[in-house]
Amino acid sequence: MSDEDAKRNAAAAALDYVEDGMTLGLGTGSTAAFFVEFLAEEVADGLVVRGVPTSESTRRLAETHGIPILPIEQVERIDLTVDGADEIDPGANLIKGGGAALLREKIVANASDHMVVIADASKAVEQLGAFPLPVEVTPFGFTITAKKVYDALCATGITRPKVKLRELPSKGTPLVTDGGNYILDCSCQVIPDPRATAVALSVIPGVVEHGLFLNMARTVILGDSEGAELLE
Ligand code: 5RP
Repeated sequence: MSDEDAKRNAAAAALDYVEDGMTLGLGTGSTAAFFVEFLAEEVADGLVVRGVPTSESTRRLAETHGIPILPIEQVERIDLTVDGADEIDPGANLIKGGGAALLREKIVANASDHMVVIADASKAVEQLGAFPLPVEVTPFGFTITAKKVYDALCATGITRPKVKLRELPSKGTPLVTDGGNYILDCSCQVIPDPRATAVALSVIPGVVEHGLFLNMARTVILGDSEGAELLE
């Protein structure tokens, strides 16, 4: 089995949740991109939906594939969001932000009646934390903010975390998000109390958003070589 097949199977299964007339949050990442491509085939066959993208890359992909796009400022609510994840625990709590889109992803998910997470089965974990937790911060004062983030992680039970500025591959310059911010990738190994960590990070001045998505996903679809397993 390739990861690609597993992602594709998860993305295809999410189409079952799409209904004519829906406003859809469109996630970011390789799995979400498969969903956009499958959705585009339905749109070409006459399905009427409007997409609210969670990143500029997804906006470009959706537009290229002929999916009508609405800026989030023009919608009051979103029926359904389909997005990927970097880790998923048994309670459907997530780490997201591997693709640096966590801020828009969280705003869109929070505006949605229903969030469906699609991923290959390797993203399911017993406990969150092996994937470095992305934290989006303002460029202003980011070195000070990074120290406060480190302190917050330690204070919520994480042992010897490492906080690292995300850089563009091979360029040595900070990656800048769609919102003009930086990302701190926080290696935690295990996050023993995700709720406490989420709260501690949220109150730090300079932290724009963090990649812990707690109690947001209602449905998880895990793809594998056979098809997809549904967890609700
Ligand atoms: C982007 C995300 C992605 O959904 C996450 O990184 C999963 O990506 P992929 O589907 O490529 O594995 O959170 O910010």
